[in-house]
Amino acid sequence: MASLTVRQLDEALKQQLRLRAARNGRSVEDEVRSILREAAGETETPAQPAAPPASAAATATTPLRVLLIIGGGIAAYKSLDLIRRLKERGYAVRCILTEAATQFVTPLAAGALVGSRVHTDLFNAEHEFDVGHIRLAREADLIVVAPATADLMAKMAQGLASDLATAVLLATRAKILLAPAMNPAMWSHKATQRNLAQLKADGVALIGPNAGEMAERGERGFGRMAEPLEIAGAVDRLLKTDAAAQPLKGKHVLITAGPTHEPIDPVRYIANRSSGKQGYAIAAAAAEAGAAVTLISGPVTLRKPDHVDVIDVESARDMLAAVEKALPADVAIFAAAVADWRVANAGEQKIKKQAGAAVPQLALTENPDILSTIAHRTQGRPPLVIGFAAETENVIANAKAKLAKKGCDWILANDVSPATGIMGGDSNTIHLVSADGIDDWPSQSKEDAAAMLIAKIAAAIGKDRP
Ligand SMILES: Cc1cc2nc3c(=O)[nH]c(=O)nc-3n(C[C@H](O)[C@H](O)[C@H](O)COP(=O)(O)O)c2cc1C
Repeated sequence: MASLTVRQLDEALKQQLRLRAARNGRSVEDEVRSILREAAGETETPAQPAAPPASAAATATTPLRVLLIIGGGIAAYKSLDLIRRLKERGYAVRCILTEAATQFVTPLAAGALVGSRVHTDLFNAEHEFDVGHIRLAREADLIVVAPATADLMAKMAQGLASDLATAVLLATRAKILLAPAMNPAMWSHKATQRNLAQLKADGVALIGPNAGEMAERGERGFGRMAEPLEIAGAVDRLLKTDAAAQPLKGKHVLITAGPTHEPIDPVRYIANRSSGKQGYAIAAAAAEAGAAVTLISGPVTLRKPDHVDVIDVESARDMLAAVEKALPADVAIFAAAVADWRVANAGEQKIKKQAGAAVPQLALTENPDILSTIAHRTQGRPPLVIGFAAETENVIANAKAKLAKKGCDWILANDVSPATGIMGGDSNTIHLVSADGIDDWPSQSKEDAAAMLIAKIAAAIGKDRP
């Protein structure tokens, strides 16, 4: 079978083809296919004057279409991973890079991941006849802007259409999801907050930004782009309503996260190095899966996940009380690093340093064991109780012993010895220990580990067997 390359046709013929394709609302390639079909005597498929509605695109045969606009920020590199995540979930992805974005990622890299040409220029005549800005705007069920720069947000709030990205954003009738990313000072600036309020009033959806380390040395605060998995989850929530996208719909998932603070006196406390990142990622993933999520959180500096009911506590005893109050639950996941001991003789007032006086002696007493207490309940025990075992040695052996002792269904064991960087870090290597044996998971981001856990839970609940 011979192959035909449009690029090799002479310029006059190409121009005619472009005009005909633009008139019929097709790409040049589709126009050529249509001409060949006509010539071969096949019935012409009617041209599609405008994009089909989102509901039609949501059928099993037609993938939902996401147009990803990558803005010019450091976080643009994360959007390459977002393309992969969206494609994994079955979305048809098209991509626009702003001119500034091309300074951070190349059209070639984005195009290779998307699997087709990316769009960069409003005034490119060839592309305008092929897939012009109006078609890009119409042929999307959702437009995702990630990273949404301060500049793009300002232009959108004003209704400017000075380049391909903003022209498409103004011309679309599809829902728009923004994943802002910028320096904390830019984010908190009155102008950005004003633009944000306007965009929210205009019905634009938002994911993030998160708090954390910025690209600039030593800078922390709100402004980090949401992680690709979080953004993909938000896309699912906006586009998919079916059971496959929300396997935990109708379920209540209870999660604990973070450290506890055990007071020494009203101003001092004993704590540990837990950041809460893994528990927060699990809460976000459970919410994405459609669950009603209660997150009982020790003191952390993380952004509260969207669509999650967060209850802040300090001590182990507060955490147990909050857990008991939040029951019943279908699944309980105890990811918090709860202090085993508290100070028995905590001062009612600040303990004073007095010249010549003896150094205060702290006496410790045991804290309640939240995992064991809930797993051993005779009434109102969640059908699936999951604990974490943070170990620094004999990880699997200790996890097996913990599973038996605590009476829970699954233990997620991880090695938190300092060399692993897991405690407070962004990745995790988990071994799922259950009555069925040991499942070794790969080293992955805490978000990926959370997604994997939620998928396992959904499968287990589906089988009605932990
Ligand atoms: C190294 C560097 C990093 C930048 N990072 C960001 C950023 O994270 N967020 C942002 O809003 N602007 C950032 N900017 C500024 C934008 O690139 C600039 O406002 C640009 O005009 C945005 O264009 P766009 O909105 O069309 O993509 C950065 C600029 C440079 C030089």
